[in-house]
Amino acid sequence: MSQFVEVIEAKDVPLGRAVPVQVGDRWFAVCNDRGTIYVTDILCPHAGGPLGQGEVHRGRLVCPVHLWHWDLKTGLSDLNRSHPRLKIYACQVRDGKVYADVSKPLASQGPSTP
Ligand code: FES
Repeated sequence: MSQFVEVIEAKDVPLGRAVPVQVGDRWFAVCNDRGTIYVTDILCPHAGGPLGQGEVHRGRLVCPVHLWHWDLKTGLSDLNRSHPRLKIYACQVRDGKVYADVSKPLASQGPSTP
């Protein structure tokens, strides 16, 4: 059963950026890739970098620490595809608000368009 909750106003997620959001007692990164919104774990799977401060380029979330690129559809790193994936969560944009189901990561990780 999905459990979508409101996480942020879509206007507060600038193009090409990630921003941190808190849902309950957990933190996530909300990313804007050319108008498509994604919600991911806040900590980089490589070494725990703060992905909520990352930049987004061409479908990739770039970690600010070592600049690994994480594919926002698959969660895979371009640099090391055998590394554990970035977790991505289902999200929707409705009436200018981003809703996410952070109860479990997506198995086949995909986007939500406004
Ligand atoms: S901590 Fe993110 S790339 Fe190293």
